[in-house]
Amino acid sequence: MVQKIAIFASGSGSNAEKIIEHFADNSAIDVSLILTNNPKAYVIQRAQSKNVAYTVFSRDDFYNSEAVLSQLAEYEIDWVILAGFLWLIPENLIAQYPDRIINIHPALLPKYGGKGMYGHHVHQAVFNNFEKETGITIHLVNKEYDKGRILFQKKVTLELNDTPDRIAQKIHKLEHTHFPQVIEDAIKQG
Ligand code: GAR
Repeated sequence: MVQKIAIFASGSGSNAEKIIEHFADNSAIDVSLILTNNPKAYVIQRAQSKNVAYTVFSRDDFYNSEAVLSQLAEYEIDWVILAGFLWLIPENLIAQYPDRIINIHPALLPKYGGKGMYGHHVHQAVFNNFEKETGITIHLVNKEYDKGRILFQKKVTLELNDTPDRIAQKIHKLEHTHFPQVIEDAIKQG
């Protein structure tokens, strides 16, 4: 049976695009739906150009209705991937997809995790603390931000002249290299 993926993304969606490309020729795993909370997110353009269905939902849809769950059911989604998605996942979604929601975090959890630690805020904090290294964490999602079981981590060394923007570039490179394969491995084991 084909395993169907839905990707949640709130912004640019560069990871979403890499995941779509990674599975484009895979007959066992299909990226079937992109979901975003942000009608202006660039991930929508990426979904359109890659011919992947997408949907925009509101905070009310997400937290006070079954609308998102219904869409996942309509597309017969087996796995949920969070690729730059910034809202806490509600319990009804976690209950529907136990150990089948995978998030990427742009730091070496448990460092630089928790509420408010996303995207550029993470890189700025790493920079402010003169860290000598940072990295990425790919993990299963449970009720608390950034606390689910870790599937994969990869470090990158920081240089003295690395700005927060440069740190972000290094992190994106790591994410694009590893995230699709870690997803594939998790689904194959799942
Ligand atoms: C990625 O770096 C991802 O790790 C981060 O948002 C970025 C999205 O980039 N996610 C978080 O901070 C979640 N806490 P993208 O839209 O280009 O894929």
